Amino acid sequence: HRSTRPNPQRKTDIMLTMSTSTTTSTTAATGRVDASRARPRPIILDCDPGHDDAAAIILALGNPAIDLLGVTTVGGNQTAEKITRNARSVLRLCNREDVPVHQGASRPLLHDVEVAAQIHGESGLDGVELPDPTVPVAPGHAVSFIIDTVMAAAPGEITLVATGPLTNIALAARIEPRIVGRIAELVVMGGGFHEANWTPAAEFNIWVDPEAARIVFEESWPITMVGLDLTHQALATAEAEEGIRRIGSELSEAFLGLMAFFRRAYKENQDFDDPPVHDPCTIAYLIDPAIVRTRRAPVRIETHGQYTTGATVVDLRGQAPENVHTQVATELDHAGFWRLMTEAIAALS
Ligand code: RIB
Ligand code: CA
Repeated sequence: HRSTRPNPQRKTDIMLTMSTSTTTSTTAATGRVDASRARPRPIILDCDPGHDDAAAIILALGNPAIDLLGVTTVGGNQTAEKITRNARSVLRLCNREDVPVHQGASRPLLHDVEVAAQIHGESGLDGVELPDPTVPVAPGHAVSFIIDTVMAAAPGEITLVATGPLTNIALAARIEPRIVGRIAELVVMGGGFHEANWTPAAEFNIWVDPEAARIVFEESWPITMVGLDLTHQALATAEAEEGIRRIGSELSEAFLGLMAFFRRAYKENQDFDDPPVHDPCTIAYLIDPAIVRTRRAPVRIETHGQYTTGATVVDLRGQAPENVHTQVATELDHAGFWRLMTEAIAALS
């Protein structure tokens, strides 16, 4: 699935030509041995761009600690077709169309399609004119790409990041259960233990496909849930945006154009003065776990509540039992997060 020709911009090629020594380490979350910390962490980003998903793609591409192997798309903020085009446009904007985009599920396992046009607009990335993609959608379903990539890599090598509804991730675990024990960890933007946004009890990604979320959270893989309790701290303040404005590039201007639309949408719909940029918090956690404080806790997904379907029920009472495979994000280093975002945009400009 990945081009074999060295791409001077691919961080792995740069790192390997620098003949870095490899060291092994274990992730805080999982205790699993990472193949090597000296090399960028290889990830697959399953997403529904979406303004904040676009920011996650930019952060993953712009930071040397991450090697974005591929983007998989899922219907969520907009239809799967619009989402897939948006992902390809963002990669074109970042001059990284070498990263393959595989389209995934166009609807939830059981529920009807519900998009978030009031937040992301009719295109899913309203606010700027993004460049038309020049590379077609990669052949093969997103779920096949996830399974094939994880099974071809060494155990503990690949990290999955999901910033949209969890339909693709659930299908992958059901079609090839061996991936559950083979990934380094799964990082999910979704849910919340004291915060909700789409209903009084549920966050959008979990609400759209609660059955998929239940399948995912009931598997034994290590999961870091980066929910609204954390991402509502990732506000695009005027000061954060000023640091990005000083870059003065096509990418920084496009990013700020997206944030301007996002700002208006969040003010009108959820009365935020500054928009919460949810999805890149997952990438920031992988780059520097010190920026995202976490605590281990059991997480259950409500799928039958008359008023609570889609809720992530997180048990924060006392110490988590030893066999808990989930942790939830609690506190963000706001300055550190926006430093990473700014550096990534500058690195890609
Ligand atoms: O609730 C916020 C989440 O839902 C974000 O991932 C946003 O992009 C949407 O997918
Ligand atoms: Ca998203």
